[in-house]
Amino acid sequence: MSNMSRKIAIASDHGGYELKEDLKGHLLSRGFEIVDMGAGKDESVDYPDFGALVAEAVSKNEFERGILLCGTGIGMSIVANKFKGVRAALVSDVFSARMAKEHNNANVIVVGGRVTGKELARAVVDAWLDTEYRADERHRRRLEKIAAIEKKQCEGGHRR
Ligand code: RB5
Repeated sequence: MSNMSRKIAIASDHGGYELKEDLKGHLLSRGFEIVDMGAGKDESVDYPDFGALVAEAVSKNEFERGILLCGTGIGMSIVANKFKGVRAALVSDVFSARMAKEHNNANVIVVGGRVTGKELARAVVDAWLDTEYRADERHRRRLEKIAAIEKKQCEGGHRR
């Protein structure tokens, strides 16, 4: 893993704050550099504000990886997937965490602080970090299709 990829951006709202603190400690002990983009303790905040910070940093290639936490993880994953080039996966089991990297090359992982316990969340994040993207023809082709859809949607603007 390069130095760049040992740097991880992380953020949560109040629903994910406790799990964020636990994961930060765990990842620091594994030698990762963690940049916490908020929210702070006891702050009741709006998850889009904090999800956008991490997703934008990943979208701009300032970070290779980001971690987002809210109560269910749903809001954060919706927000993160609005950003160009972000492939955010909401995960609550180890198998899906591995597949999120191996097949989908997810660059943001999202976990629900009110859904997933600390031990499981650590295992989920570890599985995602420790798995390599399998860049074979079929997975590459599928990710290219996602990128093409994203491009087309952005160029066309939103239509109802
Ligand atoms: C905040 O109460 C809650 O809605 C948020 O943490 C998250 O679960 C949203 O998807």
